[in-house]
Amino acid sequence: MQQRRIRNIVGSWALMAAMTAPGARAAQTLTPLISREENVPAYALPEFLPAAAVQGASPEQLRARWAERREDLRRLFAEHIYGQEPAPVDGAEEAMQIVVHERAEVELGRAGTVWRVQADLVFPPRTGRAAEVRGRVLVYLPRSATGPVPVWLALNFKGNHTVHADPGIRIGKMDTPRGERVNRWPVEEMLARGYGFATMHYGDLVPDDPARVFTHGLGAGWTRPGVERAPDAWAAIGAWAWSLSRVMDLLVTMPEIDAERVAVMGHSRLGRAALWAAARDERFALVVSNNSGAMAAALSRRRFGENVERITAYFPHWFAPRLATYANREDALPVDQHELLALIAPRPVYVASAADDLWADPRGEFLAAQAASQAYRWWGYEGIAATQVYPDLHTPVGDRVVYHVRAGGHDVTAYDWEQFLAFADRHLR
Ligand code: GCU
Repeated sequence: MQQRRIRNIVGSWALMAAMTAPGARAAQTLTPLISREENVPAYALPEFLPAAAVQGASPEQLRARWAERREDLRRLFAEHIYGQEPAPVDGAEEAMQIVVHERAEVELGRAGTVWRVQADLVFPPRTGRAAEVRGRVLVYLPRSATGPVPVWLALNFKGNHTVHADPGIRIGKMDTPRGERVNRWPVEEMLARGYGFATMHYGDLVPDDPARVFTHGLGAGWTRPGVERAPDAWAAIGAWAWSLSRVMDLLVTMPEIDAERVAVMGHSRLGRAALWAAARDERFALVVSNNSGAMAAALSRRRFGENVERITAYFPHWFAPRLATYANREDALPVDQHELLALIAPRPVYVASAADDLWADPRGEFLAAQAASQAYRWWGYEGIAATQVYPDLHTPVGDRVVYHVRAGGHDVTAYDWEQFLAFADRHLR
């Protein structure tokens, strides 16, 4: 009965994903999903460093070897999964301008008086792109702070005006009511606890639409029409990670913000972007992945729930074209996702799952966080102990690498944020 329920949940997620992905392949032509633990194939994870490089090495030597290996791993993740950062087109790099529209003192409920800053990241026209592209950023900062504050940065799914009912937030292009997503964003709580909060709609720079991603937004200047995409070409997840770094470029210009204490958080596909952003850009001091799943915090070799075949069939525009060649041969991938988490070491990383979100493979997320902890030990942090068994509901485990699974489905809840804020309180203050 329980197994059947699990299958149904996984099945309904698969169906939903298939329905929301235009041009997606029909689910029937795909290999059956693995939705039971006993069907997970035996696998061996790639080692961070060859055994010979680890044996007898001092922590200093390990960290030095890891620093070199990290470059290889970043390259491998780009070549095989997320794609390379777009090359300059006709010799021109993106030239971003920051236009600040507003800097106002406003009342924000229990946070009291805060600063609201609204700014645009403007990318002018260039070859292949007739129109400029604008990312609209919303930043709130505590008004009472006596020094530079730590900040939470996260892309949002439905527009800045959905994160809080504040009538002063500019409406983006999304057709969604104000405050529609307040349940996912404890903005006042963050500010009351001394954090700033910065957000941008994820599609402002690069749309999440296979039919438009390479022709609209920044992608229009990054892709040559009619030219087949290279196996390691850039794609949407990489572009959203890149967007997070561009918001960071804005945050570091603001004297009220402590640029060394910017935490990046992402849910689901945006958890994928947050992890890849932090793996590439060491300015991010702490990372939270919420229900990010396949090609994010969950181990690929388990193939449980959403796997390479499914994700590349439903969302062909998210990854480098080469990723699809690993469908049902995940063992051939030169990396697995514990290495993505390890690329964040020694910075704190939090991985959160939801028990009913089997599509994202909660256990695979735990095992990746546990395996990533090896790299943290080279800095003297335990992470999640190798002996730790899969935890009970609502029981965060680990230190510096922390994992929890809560009851319920794919979402960001008050319980999740309570843990994320306590985690940041411990590591950023
Ligand atoms: C779908 C998709 C996931 C993704 C999720 C989301 O379920 O299959 O890979 O994480 O959407 O972003 O909400």
